[in-house]
Amino acid sequence: MKLVGISGCLRKESYNTKLLKTIGERYAESFDLEILSIRELPFYDQDEEADPPDAVKTFKEKVKKADGVIIATPEYNWSITGALKNALDWLSRGDKEMKDKPVMVVGASTGILGTVRAQIDLRKILGSSGLSARVLPPSTNEFLVTHAHEKGSFVGLRPYPTWTPILLYLYVSSILALARSKFLNPYAFRFITFVWLLIPSKKPFV
Ligand SMILES: Cc1cc2nc3c(=O)[nH]c(=O)nc-3n(C[C@H](O)[C@H](O)[C@H](O)COP(=O)(O)O)c2cc1C
Repeated sequence: MKLVGISGCLRKESYNTKLLKTIGERYAESFDLEILSIRELPFYDQDEEADPPDAVKTFKEKVKKADGVIIATPEYNWSITGALKNALDWLSRGDKEMKDKPVMVVGASTGILGTVRAQIDLRKILGSSGLSARVLPPSTNEFLVTHAHEKGSFVGLRPYPTWTPILLYLYVSSILALARSKFLNPYAFRFITFVWLLIPSKKPFV
């Protein structure tokens, strides 16, 4: 199974990009996750839609070929970032590469609500006629990383602090990592099953 990951954040140390990397590594046996960059995408411009810049063409082509998409969204001022909205706007036009594409929404923020507001907005946008993506219902598929800056052991978010005795830290963090890693499993499992059901050539029931 081939998936692409889109992080809504441009910064190098982005927790959301790290979350995607962690997901890719942890479920490497279930799917191949290629993380796409949205940094090179110019602002969407309808005048360029018929023949978009190369960076846009490459981005759209990769999404088109993927069996599914994982979007890790940060939360900026209670919504998704402008960079992510811009990427989605490009995808919503022309070949509409997101149409019927299974999408998993995850997100990490340093706040107490862990991108819940951004994810609500993102789900609404993904349901627009231009995108028409397939997203599992939020009730049991809302993966939120709150206080991301404190969760180094969970998603490899930050280097080991030098002020902690290193062995003790490694011991405690490995326990936490073990316990927390199971937390992501049901979400990933449901999404993997969902993608398999939607891959036309691999549908088990037709
Ligand atoms: C412009 C801006 C707006 C932000 N607004 C919110 C917000 O509404 N809710 C929230 O939980 N965090 C907010 N934050 C904090 C982000 O969650 C935090 O910067 C996070 O690390 C961004 O994701 P990243 O690590 O992938 O870059 C905001 C940060 C910035 C720079």
